[in-house]
Amino acid sequence: MSLIQHIEIHDDTDSAGDELKPGSQLLHGQYTIERYLSAGGFGITYLARDSLERRVVIKECFLSSICRRSHAVVYPRSRAYSKEMAAVVSLFLREARSLAKLVHPNIVGVHEVFEDNGTAYMALDFVTGRDLQEVMADPATALSPTEIRSVLIKLLDAVQFIHDRGMLHRDISPDNVLLDANRNPILIDFGAAHDQDNANPASPALSTLRVVKDGYSPQELYVVGSENGPWSDLYALAATIYRLVAGEPPPNGQLRLAAVAGATNDPYVPLAGRFPAYDEPFLAAIDKSLQVLPKNRIQTARDWREMITAPVPKTGSVVELPPSKAGVKSAKQAAPQPERVAPAAKPATAKAPTMQPVPFLMGGAAAMVAVLGLLVLT
Ligand SMILES: Nc1ncnc2c1ncn2[C@@H]1O[C@H](COP(=O)(O)OP(=O)(O)OP(=O)(O)O)[C@@H](O)[C@H]1O
Ligand SMILES: [Mg+2]
Repeated sequence: MSLIQHIEIHDDTDSAGDELKPGSQLLHGQYTIERYLSAGGFGITYLARDSLERRVVIKECFLSSICRRSHAVVYPRSRAYSKEMAAVVSLFLREARSLAKLVHPNIVGVHEVFEDNGTAYMALDFVTGRDLQEVMADPATALSPTEIRSVLIKLLDAVQFIHDRGMLHRDISPDNVLLDANRNPILIDFGAAHDQDNANPASPALSTLRVVKDGYSPQELYVVGSENGPWSDLYALAATIYRLVAGEPPPNGQLRLAAVAGATNDPYVPLAGRFPAYDEPFLAAIDKSLQVLPKNRIQTARDWREMITAPVPKTGSVVELPPSKAGVKSAKQAAPQPERVAPAAKPATAKAPTMQPVPFLMGGAAAMVAVLGLLVLT
């Protein structure tokens, strides 16, 4: 099923109410909005056509907490937000220009970055395909272990490319990876991306909008101001692949941290030893990237790639496993996997991982235990 059909299915998607109407023109008629696709924390996404009738995706900088629209033009909600809106628009432009430099076969291409309607836009290549969330939900398109491995290797290459240029994606998840017509993964949605040295932008509205997706975000992204780095993207990538292999995402990173800090068992169930359709170094590397504490994770995409592309150790050799092995079945105990595996415990109605704004401090006793425990552990 093409993305067009997919969009038809979601035609009743609640709109943000703030979006540009179909037929709206941007950049003196260079682009015509066809329809609203979605509204994330950072902006609004549209399907559009360029002047040559090519389909493109347009992302509009529209931070709903500080912006409003009147006759297509975007204004600050009040005078008090003028400075902040200007800062957000300029940040959007800067990040969009950085993304435009990331020319890579597995990263969505940027056509153009421009200003109009009092705000900023980027026009992206339209990718014909579906996101990993939808691919997994349909047994007819389930990925084989060989394909999952190839998806991981291509995404590692893309992530390494991003990190080598000093950026972090910060929102890797199944709904932000599209599989194109050739089943190539394309990383999209750089709305949360930042330069590695600019993790906490000046805008208070943006700071509170750091997004987390339960199961995919590492624990450090739940706390505003905590250090995140390449290992944070690797955690999210590992969680995405874990979802493909095991049929469900790993447990919420914040709960895992609270468990580890409270000296109870990490609820994470490692992949190693449970899925004989994959070689053990492949599974062990995912488990390692999903360690709660950043220092225990694989640190670079390059290292990860080397770990899984090195010759597979012969039977009997030692494979490094993460410390927590709770719930691991031995490869012998595990049921043999067919070559083409539909995700194990896939709910029939797959929903995209939910995003939530992150409060300045985590609430509740668990958070307190987690933060105190982390101080002890690190
Ligand atoms: N380049 C593209 N080609 C085809 N479809 C796309 C493209 N970019 C986005 N989409 C579609 O639009 C949806 C939303 O886009 P995206 O994930 O970039 O934004 P978001 O999650 O709504 O917001 P935010 O950028 O604020 O995090 C995607 O899930 C996908 O279905
Ligand atoms: Mg998205």
